[in-house]
Amino acid sequence: MIRRPLLAQWAVLVALALSTGAALAEPTAAQARSFIQAAETRLEDLAIRAQRAQWVADNFITVDTELISSQASEQLIKASGELALAARRFKGLKLGAIEARKLGLLQLSGYLSQAADRERLTRLLAGMNGAYGRGKSCPQDGPLKPATPGDCLDLGALEQVMAESRDPAALKQAWLGWHEVARSYKDDYVAYTALANQGARAMGYRDNGALWRSGYDMPEQAFAADMERLWRQVQPLYAELLRYARFKLRQTYGRDLVPAQGPIPAHLFGNLWSQSWEYLYPLLRPEGSAPGFDLSRVLAQRPVSPKEMVRIGEGFYTSLGLEPLPPSFWERSLFVKPQDREVVCHASAWNLTESDDPRIKMCIRPTDEDFLTIHHELGHVYYDLAYRQQSKLFRAGANDGFHEAIGDTVALSVTPDYLRQIGLMSARDPAGDDIDALLKQALQKIAFLPFAYLVDQWRWQVYGGQVKPEDFDASWWRLREQVQGVSRPEPARPGGFDAGAKYHVASDTSYARYFLAHLLQFQFHRALCREARQTGPLHRCSIFGSRAAGAKFQAMLQMGASKPWPEALQALTGERQVDGGALIEYFAPLQTWLGRENARLQSLDPEVRP
Ligand code: ASP
Ligand code: SER
Ligand code: ZN
Repeated sequence: MIRRPLLAQWAVLVALALSTGAALAEPTAAQARSFIQAAETRLEDLAIRAQRAQWVADNFITVDTELISSQASEQLIKASGELALAARRFKGLKLGAIEARKLGLLQLSGYLSQAADRERLTRLLAGMNGAYGRGKSCPQDGPLKPATPGDCLDLGALEQVMAESRDPAALKQAWLGWHEVARSYKDDYVAYTALANQGARAMGYRDNGALWRSGYDMPEQAFAADMERLWRQVQPLYAELLRYARFKLRQTYGRDLVPAQGPIPAHLFGNLWSQSWEYLYPLLRPEGSAPGFDLSRVLAQRPVSPKEMVRIGEGFYTSLGLEPLPPSFWERSLFVKPQDREVVCHASAWNLTESDDPRIKMCIRPTDEDFLTIHHELGHVYYDLAYRQQSKLFRAGANDGFHEAIGDTVALSVTPDYLRQIGLMSARDPAGDDIDALLKQALQKIAFLPFAYLVDQWRWQVYGGQVKPEDFDASWWRLREQVQGVSRPEPARPGGFDAGAKYHVASDTSYARYFLAHLLQFQFHRALCREARQTGPLHRCSIFGSRAAGAKFQAMLQMGASKPWPEALQALTGERQVDGGALIEYFAPLQTWLGRENARLQSLDPEVRP
C-alpha cells in the first residue's frame, strides 16, 4: 500500500478562503486561482508534518508517538475539511480544466467542524493502527503452545504457520489467534466510522463509503456498478480455480474437513485472510509436472539479504531507464523487522517531502512473496518520483488503483527468463512448464479477486448503515461465503470483529483499489509487452531492459492525477475502461487446462457436483 497521511481522502486544506469574506461577493476566477495556490501550499506543509509523525509512529509504536501522529493528522484534516468547504464557493464559475479539476479534488474530503471530533477521529485511527501493529497471539495450549510459557506469536510468526504448516489444528489455532486481536478495537472502529460518516455528510456525501466511491472521475453509483461488472467478468475464472483447489484440498485434508460443496474452511488456504494462495502451490501443483523453480529456497540459501533483494528490485526499474533511488532511500527505509521495538510490519511506501525523500517500510523475509512485494512497493516509489513535477493536488495516482498496479505490473515481468538473466536462477534450474507457471501466478492473482472485491462491499454497507455493529461478523461471513467461498473455521463468538483482522480495515485504507489494480496490471502488462516488441504469450513476456516500454510507462506515471484516469489509461494502453479481458487472456491456457483437469478430478471424486 501507499502511505498517505492518515485519511488520504481528507488530505487536501485552508482557512484563508473562509476568512476572505466568503459569503458575500461572487467569487472571481482570479480568486479561485489564488485560493487553489494557497490551498496547495498549506496542504503540502501539513501533509509533510503528518507523514513524518506517522512514519515515526509506525516505526516506534508507543502511546506518545501515536498521540503526536494523531495531532499532526488532526491539523491536516482540519485544513482539508475547511478547504473542501471553501472550495464549494467557486461552483459554477467558468474556469480552466486544471482549476476545475483541482477544485473537484479538494472537495473529496470530509469536514468536521469541531476540534473534539477531529481529535477523537485521528486518535481512534492511530490507536487501531498501533493495535494492529502490536497484535499478538499467546497460545497456552494446543499445537502452537510455546516452549517457554508466556511466549507470544506476532503477525509474522502466525503468517508463517499459515504458510508452512499442514496440520489443520495448528492452522486453525493460528487463524483464530490472529482474529482474536481485532476484538479489542471493534468499539473504536464503530466510533471511528460514525465520525467519518459525520464528516462525509457535512460535505454532502451520503456517507463515507460514497465519499470513497467518488474518487474515480465518475458518479459514485456508476463506480459501484462498474465494480460489479468487473467482478462478474472474472468470477467464472475464480470459480474454476476454487473448484480445482477443492479437489486438491480434499486429497490433502480429507473429505470431512473439505466439503463436497459449499464454503471451504478459511484456514486451509495458506494465508490468514485466504486472499492469496501461493503457499498452497506444493499441494496444488499439476500432477506429474516437474516442480517449478523455488525462488524462496534460493533467496534463503545464498543467502540474499533484504537490502540486496531491494537492490535487485531497483535494478528492474533502472533497466527500463528509470532513475536510481536516492541515497536517502537506502539510509532511511526500514527493510528488516527490529527486534527491540514494535513496528507496523505491513509493507508500505512513503514519500516524506512529497518529492525527494522516498522510503519503504517492510519486514522483509527471504521469500518469493516478499521479493514480489518489494517490486510492488517500489512501484509506489517510482510513481511518486515520476509525478514530482506536478503541483500538490496532482501528485497522486490517476486513481488509487493505478498506484497499486504499477509495481505489480513490473513484478509480472519477473519470469524465469528474467531470473536467469540476473543470475538468481541458473541454467540448470527447472523453469516449470507453462501450466505450472500460470497456476502459481493464478494462486496469487486470481485467488485474490473475490477478497479484493468483497472487503469494500462490506465497508460500503457498514458506512451506509445497512450493517450494524452487532452484525459485523455475520455480514462479513455472508460475503466471504458467497463471494470467496470460504467459511469461518469455527462459529463466531459475540463481540468479534473478523473484518478488523485485515490491516486495511484497521487502518481504514480503502480496498477497491486492489481489485482495480489486479485487472489494470494485466492491461498495463499487455500494453508494455507490445511496446517491448514481445510477441509470445503474455505470461512469458518480460519487459526487463526495454527502454521503449520504460518510456511509455514513465509518460503515464508523470501525468499523476492531472487528468481523469481514463486518459492516463489511454496514454499507456489505448483503452479507456478497466477491463478484465487482459487478465483473462493471460490465463487463457490455464482456464482451458482447469476445465479439463476439473472434469478428470470430478470423475475421481463424484461427490463434488459438476
Ligand atoms: N503493502 C502492500 C499492499 O497492502 C503489499 C502487501 O503487503 O501485501 O498493497
Ligand atoms: N497488499 C495488499 C494486502 O496486503 C494487497 O495484496 O492486502
Ligand atoms: Zn501498495
